[in-house]
Amino acid sequence: MGVNDTGNEVVLSSGNSTVRILKYGATVLSWTVNGKEQLFLSEKAVLDGTKAVRGGIPLVFPVFGKATEGPCAQLPQHGFARNHVWELLGQVSESPLTVQFGLGPEYLSEEARAAWPYDFSLVYTVVLQDNALVTKLTVDNTDSKPFEFNVLFHTYFRIPDVDKVSVDGLQGAAVTDKVSKTNYSAESTEVRIAQEVDRVYGGVPDARNVTIKSGDTQLFHVVDRKNLPDVVVWNPWIEKANGLGDFYPKDGYKNMICVETGSVDKWTSLQPGQSWEASQTLKVML
Ligand code: BG6
Repeated sequence: MGVNDTGNEVVLSSGNSTVRILKYGATVLSWTVNGKEQLFLSEKAVLDGTKAVRGGIPLVFPVFGKATEGPCAQLPQHGFARNHVWELLGQVSESPLTVQFGLGPEYLSEEARAAWPYDFSLVYTVVLQDNALVTKLTVDNTDSKPFEFNVLFHTYFRIPDVDKVSVDGLQGAAVTDKVSKTNYSAESTEVRIAQEVDRVYGGVPDARNVTIKSGDTQLFHVVDRKNLPDVVVWNPWIEKANGLGDFYPKDGYKNMICVETGSVDKWTSLQPGQSWEASQTLKVML
């Protein structure tokens, strides 16, 4: 029980749950409840700090996707938070078990620093509860000029069978569909996956309980979204999974669905001296 810093990773154990966090990217790699893994992590995920992790919960900041113009245009896809080593700030609470990680410009590579030349401070808080995991990101603008950013918790949920999975709670949202390259309003039915899916559901009301189900069985609830109005649903399906060198086994797309809460449809602007916070709670339905 408690927090164990193994060097590259931080392991939290509390009650019936454990979580493993890689300092590189402050990436949650594993979350178990009653000994059962709840997240998908590719068997070929690169964990040595040379590439963002394929699976778990990578952190997306300060840009979602690839910006072609504006202040994030020089950054790689999904920004720099997921491919830099964060500092373990320490344990901040025993009950619930809570740890924090920090990232600032002093930790960035020269390229990232040059590509996004702002002074900022990020604090990532991970709270492990029985059957629930809370992730919270605080962004501070410590610069003398404003900056804009996106934030996304890129959660890869482990599921028994993609053919049976559905996501409830996204009805009526404004969809940006990156596969069909169209925009439309989400239907009133649950989202199902039968092909590559890569969609941003924009402006999902805060009170909506986003639920991942397998058939009639509820697997996960994504609740208490604060400042995370958008939900990305992603499954690479056959061809895309084949094209991703670090995605393994190749039919692993059958056992994962990314349901990613974020603030990505619009830029969030932060004035000098201001602070902004986003959080989500992931609940396992037993
Ligand atoms: C999703 C994006 O969030 O992440 C997809 O909507 C993208 O477009 C996917 O393919 C994975 O991105 P990456 O950079 O980890 O391969």
